[in-house]
Amino acid sequence: MRIDELIAESVAVIDTALSGESTARLDAELLLSHVLKKQRSYLYAYPEVLLKPEHLAEFYPLLQQRCDGQPMAYLLGEKEFWSLSLSVDKRVLIPRPETEEMVEQVLDLPLPPQSVVADLGTGSGAIALALAKEKPHWFVVASDFSAQAVEVAKQNSQQHQENNNQSAEQFLLLRADWLSAFAENSFDLIVSNPPYIDALDAHLKHGDVQFEPLSALVSPNAGLADIEKIVAGADTCLKAGGYLAIEHGYDQGERIVALLDRHGYQDIVDNHDLAGMPRFVIAGKK
Ligand SMILES: C[S@@+](CC[C@H](N)C(=O)[O-])C[C@H]1O[C@@H](n2cnc3c(N)ncnc32)[C@H](O)[C@@H]1O
Repeated sequence: MRIDELIAESVAVIDTALSGESTARLDAELLLSHVLKKQRSYLYAYPEVLLKPEHLAEFYPLLQQRCDGQPMAYLLGEKEFWSLSLSVDKRVLIPRPETEEMVEQVLDLPLPPQSVVADLGTGSGAIALALAKEKPHWFVVASDFSAQAVEVAKQNSQQHQENNNQSAEQFLLLRADWLSAFAENSFDLIVSNPPYIDALDAHLKHGDVQFEPLSALVSPNAGLADIEKIVAGADTCLKAGGYLAIEHGYDQGERIVALLDRHGYQDIVDNHDLAGMPRFVIAGKK
């Protein structure tokens, strides 16, 4: 079978299975480029190339999994975040563009040049690696309660250090339950994209989310329990004059602003994502 024939067939199959998935063509092309280990442009340059049986044998199971709804990032084994190619699989959340917006904002905070920074619930290491890339003089601590997530973040941090000639001494990765492992006044900045979805939220049954680890998504108390623990821990672990940045659900902003207010924070700003939804709070510690 030719490349263009396989793509046309696959687009139709994905369209049917995922009822008009708007990315069907892109998905089919990305899966085939992945199998062929070629750029997508190759598919357009050589549509007449005949595919080898071993390529088809690798492609069809991926196509089937995509039709079952598996996220593209898991099938390709990678996701780009902040121009970093990160390995991802079902052990970790797939990093989201909204989180890049939080990274962008915290990079602009008036922090000391040699700040010590924590990314709590690091998952694939996305936030921590983006911060380390942009601020080579920061010391970045990345932690997660999930041992499996720590394995993935370790793989990504090693890869990132090799690719960018970054010092391993800039980065510490460990397994920890939020801030319980850290001493008083440890950090100038604490960033987190914690689990914040209510267990009964219908969104958990749709799209990529249904394949991601529940431990990365769901939190008790209407999704706020983990955020409350982080805020409580930051009372001791965040330095005076430091900042706390927390991603949250679109309808949780007011409660989190009120929580931070009760904990005595100043300059509390609930930032909107590109879709105009309030998605991450940044607050300064007095
Ligand atoms: C929404 S995911 C965020 C992953 C990553 N930071 C990102 O933005 O792509 C939340 C992460 O918090 C971790 N987590 C859940 N409970 C935790 C806890 N008690 N202490 C530390 N991390 C926890 C999960 O394992 C998961 O990796």
